[in-house]
Amino acid sequence: MRIICASTMKGGAGKTATTCWLANVLAKHSDQRILVIDADNQKSITDLREEDKEIVGEGLKFDWDLKTANPEEAQAIIEDAYENDKYDIIFIDMPRMTGLEDDAIIALLAMADSFIIPVKPARTDALATGHFMATMADLKKIREDEGMPTYIYAFHNFYRNIKENSYLPEFAEGIGIELFDSKIKLKKIYENYNTHTSLLESAEGRDEFLPFVYEFIQKYELETQLTIPTSK
Ligand SMILES: Nc1ncnc2c1ncn2[C@@H]1O[C@H](COP(=O)(O)OP(=O)(O)O)[C@@H](O)[C@H]1O
Ligand SMILES: [Mg+2]
Repeated sequence: MRIICASTMKGGAGKTATTCWLANVLAKHSDQRILVIDADNQKSITDLREEDKEIVGEGLKFDWDLKTANPEEAQAIIEDAYENDKYDIIFIDMPRMTGLEDDAIIALLAMADSFIIPVKPARTDALATGHFMATMADLKKIREDEGMPTYIYAFHNFYRNIKENSYLPEFAEGIGIELFDSKIKLKKIYENYNTHTSLLESAEGRDEFLPFVYEFIQKYELETQLTIPTSK
């Protein structure tokens, strides 16, 4: 079982969106059994799922399970999932991190093997994120010294052609965190996400998002294959 955390220091960089984009795609087009734990105080995914139930109807069968939990409850849920072999991947939408996390948050982070860090390319964001990414790099080193493989990558979100783009690779390189080659552009298809629609169901979504998903599977060494829809 893999535990993947979307985490950032800055609000609004795309943590919740990343969790939903990936959960929707993997749950629909791969064999992976997926749970999402909404451990963020904002409860965005929980609210989205409630909206989805209203829009699509109570009868809708969702492709992935959702549990809303505080960090302590999240730890218990993960332990239970290990015992019962119910899931292949657990995504956690983490509270945003300041570097001064409480024990429950640190303990939850320590249960994760993978981190995915969306970064908005603006100078201030790159600076703030740089500090956080240094913490991530430390975490990776501690885990790997214990013999536990750890995957940490950052990616450009809201990508468009602006001067600030150059800051991110510099910071990432400086602290030893690798960036995705694929970028997620600033686009409508990414803005209007929910908890059940796969981005790969439209031709535009496939053009934009498929390279990112392939890179995600390869970088995080997930043992799965996608069955890509071809319609629309
Ligand atoms: N690549 C993108 N293009 C357009 N809108 C985006 C993109 N990524 C995220 N958004 C939008 O930006 C807002 C913030 O993203 P969200 O995932 O909620 O951030 P976080 O969880 O990190 O606070 C959301 O309204 C989302 O729809
Ligand atoms: Mg969020």
